[in-house]
This record gives sequence, C-alpha cells and structure tokens, in this order.
Amino acid sequence: MDSIYGTHKPELERTKSFLMERIEEIRSEMKERSGQDPIEHLLGRIKSEESMREKCIRKGLPETPGSALQHIYDAIGIRVVCSFINDVYAIRDAIAALPGCSIVREKDYIRKAKPNGYRSYHMILLTDSGIYAEIQLRTISMDTWAALEHHMKYKKNLNGNLELLTSELKRCADELASTDLSMQTLRDMIYDEGESNP
Ligand code: GTP
Ligand code: MG
Repeated sequence: MDSIYGTHKPELERTKSFLMERIEEIRSEMKERSGQDPIEHLLGRIKSEESMREKCIRKGLPETPGSALQHIYDAIGIRVVCSFINDVYAIRDAIAALPGCSIVREKDYIRKAKPNGYRSYHMILLTDSGIYAEIQLRTISMDTWAALEHHMKYKKNLNGNLELLTSELKRCADELASTDLSMQTLRDMIYDEGESNP
C-alpha cells in the first residue's frame, strides 16, 4: 500500500527538524539569559501511517495525502515539556515570534482546562513551505497526567471502576495544577531573593 503521505515524508521530516532546531535555539537563548533550562524534555514525531489513516476515517476524510497534509494538522507533532508554567508561556511567545511560520490556531487548555482535567497549551503552525505542525506545551505534571489518562482511555475492562477513575483523575489534575502554581510562586520568590541579595 502507498504511504498516506504520498512522497511528502522527507518534507515532513525536514519541517519537523526545522521546528525542533528553532525550539532548541529558543531554549539556548533563554538558558543563556536566565541560567535556567526552560525545557525538561522535547519530543517530535511524525504521526504513524496507521494512526493517520484511522484519523482520516474518524473525520470522514478520504485516506489521501491531501487529507493527511491539508485537512489534518498534526502529521507533525512536537511536545515541549517544561518544569514551570511561566516557561510554557515564554516559549509559546518565542514560537509565535518565529520567522518562517505562522499560527493557524491556539488552544489554551491551561487557563481553561478540559472538563476531564486535561491541561496543555496547543498551537497549530503553518510553515512558509505549506506544512502544518501541532505543538503541545505543558508542564511535567500535566505531561504525567496526560500519559496516564491516555492509557486509561485505551485500556479495556475497566468496567465498574471507570467512574471512580475518571473522578479521581480529575481531582489529581486539579491538585497538580494548584501545585504547579505554588511551585511557580516559590521559584519566583527564590529567584527574586537571589537577585536582590548578591
Ligand atoms: P483531534 O481531532 O484529535 O486533532 O482533536 P482537536 O482538533 O479537537 O484537537 P485538540 O487540540 O483538542 O487535541 C489535540 C491533541 O491533544 C490530541 O491528539 C491529544 O494528543 C491531546 N489531547 C487533547 N485532549 C486530550 C485529553 O483529554 N487527554 C489526553 N491525554 N490528551 C489530549
Ligand atoms: Mg488536532
């Protein structure tokens, strides 16, 4: 079977590398300026053939390169995981200012969490070469939570426990969000103390 990406796979790989290199540059500049690494880890992937085909079907689109590249925006997925919330927003601003691409859509699921407790900042970018990419920015806590919730979604036989698991996950998401805010406050206090007491 032909690739769902037609002959565009190398172009996707190049665009993914281009964006990840730009984000690594943003990271180095911020690190240089503040002495602190704003990123805990950075991941990039091209959506597998199988999940792209599944997504086309789910969205009622034909399984073609046109659908995969022009109607679905996350053939390229990049995840930026930060220790602190302010770093998420600082990196968002730096990505927004990048030459060579523009923002198509943004969703701030940090300020407005999804009802299940999911939190992350999502950006859809369009590069000047016409390739879309989805960037997800989140803290380590949000990342840990999303991974667990993702596993639960795909796990069968949760039967009677589903309701309890769902409400406990929601509770954890809110507690983690509150801890993220406290950690940010503590960091600001420590950092400001340090600045005023050389
Ligand atoms: P898609 O049709 O999947 O692209 O959804 P959408 O266009 O409404 O995009 P949205 O920005 O809501 O979500 C895009 C991606 O964010 C998903 O593919 C997941 O990787 C992640 N995501 C969104 N919601 C959740 C959630 O409730 N739990 C987890 N674990 N991940 C989520
Ligand atoms: Mg999407």
